[in-house]
Amino acid sequence: MKPPRLLLGQTLAFEGDPFHQPVEEAARWRRRGGVLIEGDRITAVGEADELRAAHPRAQVQDYGDGLISAGFVDAHAHYPQTAIIASWGKQLIDWLNTYTFPEEMRFGDADFAARTARSYFDLVTANGTTTVASFCTIHPESVEAFFTEAQTRGMRVVAGKTCMDRNAPEELLDTAQSAYDDSKRLLEKWHGKGRLGYAITPRFSPTSTPDQLAALGALWAEHPECLMQTHLSEQLPEIDWVAGLFPQARDYLDTYEAFGLLGENAMFGHAIHLKARERDRLRETGAALVHCPTSNTFIGSGLFDMAGLMAEGQRIGLATDTGGGSSFSMLRTMAAAYEVAQLRGTALHPAQLWWLATRGAARAMRLEDRIGNLAAGQDADIVVLDLASTPAIAQRAARAAGIWEALFATIMMGDDRAVRTVWIAGREYPQGSGRASSSTQ
Ligand code: GUN
Ligand code: ZN
Repeated sequence: MKPPRLLLGQTLAFEGDPFHQPVEEAARWRRRGGVLIEGDRITAVGEADELRAAHPRAQVQDYGDGLISAGFVDAHAHYPQTAIIASWGKQLIDWLNTYTFPEEMRFGDADFAARTARSYFDLVTANGTTTVASFCTIHPESVEAFFTEAQTRGMRVVAGKTCMDRNAPEELLDTAQSAYDDSKRLLEKWHGKGRLGYAITPRFSPTSTPDQLAALGALWAEHPECLMQTHLSEQLPEIDWVAGLFPQARDYLDTYEAFGLLGENAMFGHAIHLKARERDRLRETGAALVHCPTSNTFIGSGLFDMAGLMAEGQRIGLATDTGGGSSFSMLRTMAAAYEVAQLRGTALHPAQLWWLATRGAARAMRLEDRIGNLAAGQDADIVVLDLASTPAIAQRAARAAGIWEALFATIMMGDDRAVRTVWIAGREYPQGSGRASSSTQ
């Protein structure tokens, strides 16, 4: 049996939720901490000296001043949009038609899909992200490529075939029946296979007929163990469009609810312009809202009400929304979440931002028992950060009066240069990606 590994450095873990408890109770920072890994699991987190003494056989990896945290979790992304990230000048519907749909048409080609999946996973892991929930395209090939690549790398991911049977180019349309059949086959093949999970994925109600939404609602009823992911109330013209397409619906959420697509395993991306009834139903059902701040500013969608939604007890995660979002980095995403909250009059604490990008996002994906924290029993998915990764950050961190000030400099100004390495399922990345070094730098 392989000896345990002991990672040493600063450690940051959560013992509670910093939105609903004081930060000092919710977050646990150790100046000189340790994380013990046995196989693919974390088996202990504590003081470095105590863990060293208790586990003399452990192979020690000392990261010095590096900060060891749970790997970042990105609860909403579109891996097929990797190559069109940062496309200029459009708001949601024009952006979809101009950039997104033409790019997504290429994913019927299995080789192209596989190449993009490789490139996408290289980028996210270089940014310290160890789990993502991604939309694919309407092509089953795009789902195969994504899960195959994640499996090769040992990553815990969630994904699903994006379903659309109207209001998109002909080449990107499926039907109610084929969406059901393809999703079912892919779900049965991939859900629960190793670290992979399937999410039933209607793109959003404008691109699905009532028949398709009903078919996917029926599939979810047959497989309630799966997640369901989609978009909700992202942009005002989109909301008007939905109202015209579904005249009988009470609001946007009702276009999902009426077809069985609202429940505790649902994840709704964006959720910006919500009505009171929608907020009530989201909270009552325990569905997750996924905040995508770089996307919401980039596409011009609006300012998510983090403080209000948290105060009323919503389940909220954080995500890049690549490539509507303008970054693969959850550090950049935390910075944008901070700025958006500031524009609404709230200063989010660094501990709250970090929680959203790890534990909150894992909770949104119903994976909090497995990932998103440094704690015994969690999967050993870990990021190690350099809190002085650029001259600008280093000089600010040198003035920091404590971990939160130091961490905040990296949150606001950091990027992939701050990521020293990631561990995935107890193995230092890269594993099986063909890259040679044991570091992502
Ligand atoms: N709404 C429907 N599809 C998309 C998408 O691909 N990106 C974003 N940001 N919003 C959407
Ligand atoms: Zn999206």
